[in-house]
Amino acid sequence: MKTSTLLSSALIKQEIRDACKDLVLPDDQLRLLMQKFIDEVNKGLAKATHDDAIVKCFTTYVQDLPDGTEKGNFLALDLGGTNFRVLLITLDGQNFDMKSKIYAIPQSLMLGTGTQLFDHIAQCLALFVKDLKLQNEVLPLGFTFSFPLSQHGLTEGYLVRWTKGFNCSGVIGEDVVALLEEAINRRNDVKIDVCAILNDTIGTLMSCAWKNQNCRIGLIVGTGSNACYVEKTKNAQCAIPGNFSEKKPHMLINTEWGAFGERGVLDFIITEFDRAIDENSINPTKQLFEKMISGMYMGELTRLVLEKLVNAGLLFGGKCPGDLRKRGKFFTKYVSEIENDPKGRYTNCREILAELGLRNVSDQDCENVRYVCSIVSRRAAHLVSAGIAALLNKMGEDNVTVGIDGSVYRFHPHFHDLMTAKISELQPYKFDLMLSEDGSGRGAALVAAVASQRR
Ligand code: GLC
Repeated sequence: MKTSTLLSSALIKQEIRDACKDLVLPDDQLRLLMQKFIDEVNKGLAKATHDDAIVKCFTTYVQDLPDGTEKGNFLALDLGGTNFRVLLITLDGQNFDMKSKIYAIPQSLMLGTGTQLFDHIAQCLALFVKDLKLQNEVLPLGFTFSFPLSQHGLTEGYLVRWTKGFNCSGVIGEDVVALLEEAINRRNDVKIDVCAILNDTIGTLMSCAWKNQNCRIGLIVGTGSNACYVEKTKNAQCAIPGNFSEKKPHMLINTEWGAFGERGVLDFIITEFDRAIDENSINPTKQLFEKMISGMYMGELTRLVLEKLVNAGLLFGGKCPGDLRKRGKFFTKYVSEIENDPKGRYTNCREILAELGLRNVSDQDCENVRYVCSIVSRRAAHLVSAGIAALLNKMGEDNVTVGIDGSVYRFHPHFHDLMTAKISELQPYKFDLMLSEDGSGRGAALVAAVASQRR
């Protein structure tokens, strides 16, 4: 390479670094974030401040962790990620079997009426049950519903807001269990006993706890992001007296940390890219922490940075294919795929750029694209790590296992290692990160199992 080309590529690299610098979070900023997060968690937990709190820390009424003796056949529904699933789970000691079916939820349903959504869910459930010839049995069901719910008990949960891509009318403020039961009754062709409604973080925690008694935190880094943890029952101040046991030592708390950052709390780290994402979302000013982390937004964040670099003449010689200028065209899975290329090779990167209409891209451009992906995914991993470190500090115990599920954590090649390193830096306790095997399905069955035994 000529000296002048080398010099200009070094200059370009520096300018790209400068353009991305707000996306790099030093430890002092992460520590400040941890402090602010814990303040918000405490506001969510306390009765006097809960109603006005941003990080709601909802009481889940799940107080028993599984002990491995759970038995029986359970149905589970899982709504809230990219797909909707119906599952039949058989638990027997440490054996576990699962049959499941995935159904698409078209965007028209995600943005339609609540009645349409619940009729669709009930229809899928009925088809599944009839396929397995179980329509004459009364089956206990656990409903993983991964949205913020204000729960009054294990089978009563009022939707507080929609998040991620959903916005169905007539559901906010309603009891989602009642809506499901009404839809099942409208059909009148299967017998179901809804035993529990739970968040996907709870399902993940339960599923991991079934295998590993140290699991005390459940985390999702998928379409959305959220965490739950084991709190002392006496600190669950918003739990409704009579609907839980004061004698049991623990209560699982669903933090709903995705909402963190609303009302300016995270303005010290919010970038121009985050603002653009927020403004173009279906829920502007809401779920800001989630928008900086999760799979629903990571691809688009990357695209916005790439577009800025092209406009500044720092990428692809300033020329941009039409698709890279279109919202939503750079998928989150591209980030994982590009970062999965071995060092110095750009096979996935070139394939993806070709899909977007860019051919004959130089190695240097590929390297720069990879750099942008890594900056966006690293920030996400560091933000999640700060949240987990803050919870570990709050719990103050060694050897807590964090059960984790979600497409970003599962498929990104470095997310796990980035988190392990950063959490270790930010707090003093020993911990483990454990990938959940089918968190939502088995977890829902475990919550239903405990609940149906109690009945
Ligand atoms: C969103 C939902 C939350 C869920 C998370 C992960 O943040 O509000 O309930 O746990 O996504 O799916």
